[in-house]
Amino acid sequence: MCGIVGYIGDNNALDIGIKGLRRLEYRGYDSAGLAIHNGNSVDCIKSVGKVDDLAQKIKDKDLKGNSIILHSRWATHGGVVEKNAHPHTDCKGNIFIVHNGIVENYKEIRAKLTSLGHKFVSETDSEVISHLIEHFYEGNLEEAVIKALKYIKGTYGLVVMSKDNPDRIVAARMFSPLVISVNEHGGFVASDPSAIISHSKRMIFLEDGEVAVIKKDDFIITDLESRVKDKQETELDWDIEEAQKGGYPHFMIKEIMEQSESVANSMRGRLIIEEGISKLGGIDSVKDKLKEIKKINILACGTSYYAGLIGEYLMEELAGIPTEVDFASEFRYRKFPTVADEAYLFISQSGETADSLAALKEIKKREALALGIVNVVGASIARETDAGVYNHAGPEIGVASTKAFTSQVVVLALMALFLGRQRNLSLADGKNIANDIAKLPILIQETLKNIKDIELLAKKYSGASNFLFVGRKYSYPVAMEGALKLKEISYIHSEGYSSGEMKHGPIALIDENFPTFAICPKDSVYEKTLSNIQEIKARNGKVIAITTMGNEEIKSLVDDVIYIPEVNEVLSPILSVIPVQVFAYYMAVSFGYNPDMPRNLAKSVTVE
Ligand code: G6P
Repeated sequence: MCGIVGYIGDNNALDIGIKGLRRLEYRGYDSAGLAIHNGNSVDCIKSVGKVDDLAQKIKDKDLKGNSIILHSRWATHGGVVEKNAHPHTDCKGNIFIVHNGIVENYKEIRAKLTSLGHKFVSETDSEVISHLIEHFYEGNLEEAVIKALKYIKGTYGLVVMSKDNPDRIVAARMFSPLVISVNEHGGFVASDPSAIISHSKRMIFLEDGEVAVIKKDDFIITDLESRVKDKQETELDWDIEEAQKGGYPHFMIKEIMEQSESVANSMRGRLIIEEGISKLGGIDSVKDKLKEIKKINILACGTSYYAGLIGEYLMEELAGIPTEVDFASEFRYRKFPTVADEAYLFISQSGETADSLAALKEIKKREALALGIVNVVGASIARETDAGVYNHAGPEIGVASTKAFTSQVVVLALMALFLGRQRNLSLADGKNIANDIAKLPILIQETLKNIKDIELLAKKYSGASNFLFVGRKYSYPVAMEGALKLKEISYIHSEGYSSGEMKHGPIALIDENFPTFAICPKDSVYEKTLSNIQEIKARNGKVIAITTMGNEEIKSLVDDVIYIPEVNEVLSPILSVIPVQVFAYYMAVSFGYNPDMPRNLAKSVTVE
């Protein structure tokens, strides 16, 4: 998830661009760059680090111009080095592009263009776009952009500038957001309104497959067949801070709401449904070793640890590989005897958690394979593991992890599918799982439709000082994660327990003031969890059930029901966790707490 800004007009383009880019820094801050057009030539300047580093680099340069494109990068393909920063250009220095998204078929395009004589300077997928546009360019910029886009598989929020066309910039969208505004101050384009809202509150949100030609006092939007589209402006009444949060009051709820998109990004280009398998480029180099793996040890902290617990069920069920999960913070105090052909899998959103890194250092002393599932590209854990998979969930700003969790579970499912198909998982079963994974973004959207009802539930239960969360099998880690979410942002004491263990202790706590969340989708252990719910009800405990749509019988047993769509049991945590995230969020908000900055907690815990 990168930040993009573009401007064309008579005002100070550099100033408008840099100020806009600063407001998008929350989308990525690995490197920043700009291309500015002065009517005759284009200056392109890039820098590793934040927008401040770029601003420092240009401060003594006399950069003037009437149009500018800028980019703040969240690395996906290629390390965090200057040559990988945007804008990217073509061989002649005529076309400049900034891109947010992933070009899935970039290797193929790059090979083809290289054979035609194009020279590439970066390791990025994005650079193929500038060369592809160059390939098709015959004097009409928008025509060349459209021709190039027809070859691109993947996602893009794209803004293009050309030395030969100083009067326009061209923007295009496919799954990565872009908004434009043209008014008396000029033409603007950005990844989200926060970058340009100080110049205009009237915005046009581009849709997938739309291309905009933006001039200083005019614009035209077409589809990829060059048919003109009639678009309505939207008047926003957001301030800048609200705009950065996409109009939501907090990053946490924004991140909860974007899980359909982040999960889609985590699986994009990674599923080969007809072969019932996943394709994970980051572990390709160790695939022969993976075939021999007899045991997996998952190490992680916090929410990533709970994702790991789901990973244990997935690896054992789909791949038949014995799997053990431990807190990275505890692992180092155990003897943890080495066994032959084992792998260690580190899960970390930040890739910088001190305890996880310390455990990784221990592992490196052994001859075991170290793998990572990391969201932040280039983070220490990603660099120090032998191989791994990036989440591509985009930056997570809210301290309480939400979209990283669902993305981690998706990546674990993809990995388990891959390892399973290397072993005994049949083609038919592999196809079923792959199909079910592919449906998740739609099912997440369905799940999120309940949000208003959950807000009301949070109000209803806001008088409770304690909560119990229970679940069995795949829902057990969700119960643990639900309790963690509630305690970390609303400071309500909550315990996550396995439904089966409840009768060995926590049930003693139950009375009419101690409500329970029962995570009980209609899965292979549903009946058993139902019995546990009955035990709670027999002790006057209130129960909120999260169950599968169509389950009417449960209504007469529990106090409140939250429905999630029907889904393969092995993927159910990705849906059932969403209501508990939303509940915790609204609980915190109802007490007036800021869920983005809970007391005593930090996003990335770099101390032991
Ligand atoms: C902190 C964060 C949690 C996160 C945990 C592990 O406690 O507040 O949201 O789950 O660290 O972080 P990691 O970056 O390793 O996933």
